[in-house]
Amino acid sequence: MEWLLKLKPDADDALKIAALGHDIERAVEERKVKRKDYRAYDEFKKAHALNSAKILKEIMKGCNVRKELVEDVFFLVRHHETGGDRRVDVIRDADSISFFHVNLPYYFVRNGVEETKKRCLWGYKKLAKNLQEVVVNFNYKDKELESLVRTWIACG
Ligand SMILES: [Fe+2]
Repeated sequence: MEWLLKLKPDADDALKIAALGHDIERAVEERKVKRKDYRAYDEFKKAHALNSAKILKEIMKGCNVRKELVEDVFFLVRHHETGGDRRVDVIRDADSISFFHVNLPYYFVRNGVEETKKRCLWGYKKLAKNLQEVVVNFNYKDKELESLVRTWIACG
């Protein structure tokens, strides 16, 4: 949400709901998709996005959210990893920047150097040039991580 509003201060309700709920399937332990069940990382991400979209749709229907808004959010969340049109691209970009801004230090601790390198380059390549410049200037408390990220990106 923070990065959505930085990239698009006039974001509509669908974009805001999508920004908040795009990864919701990860909070539903018995329904979340698992990396080990997919050979390709992109296939895993696609399944994750669709699963989140379905769960969020169920929640919104349960709250009597109007149909057009439900369908709009479903579309945005379903494509949040890949983008596709101008509105989805804003969600994808906000999510990609947020990974570097918030999640990366935790991802590094959980997954180690090699996996983090792959994830960083995958996320970085999705970003437009002007947004890559935002990410490359982030500072991390862990200076080893900061130096690794800059090296990976420079060589990427
Ligand atoms: Fe996601």
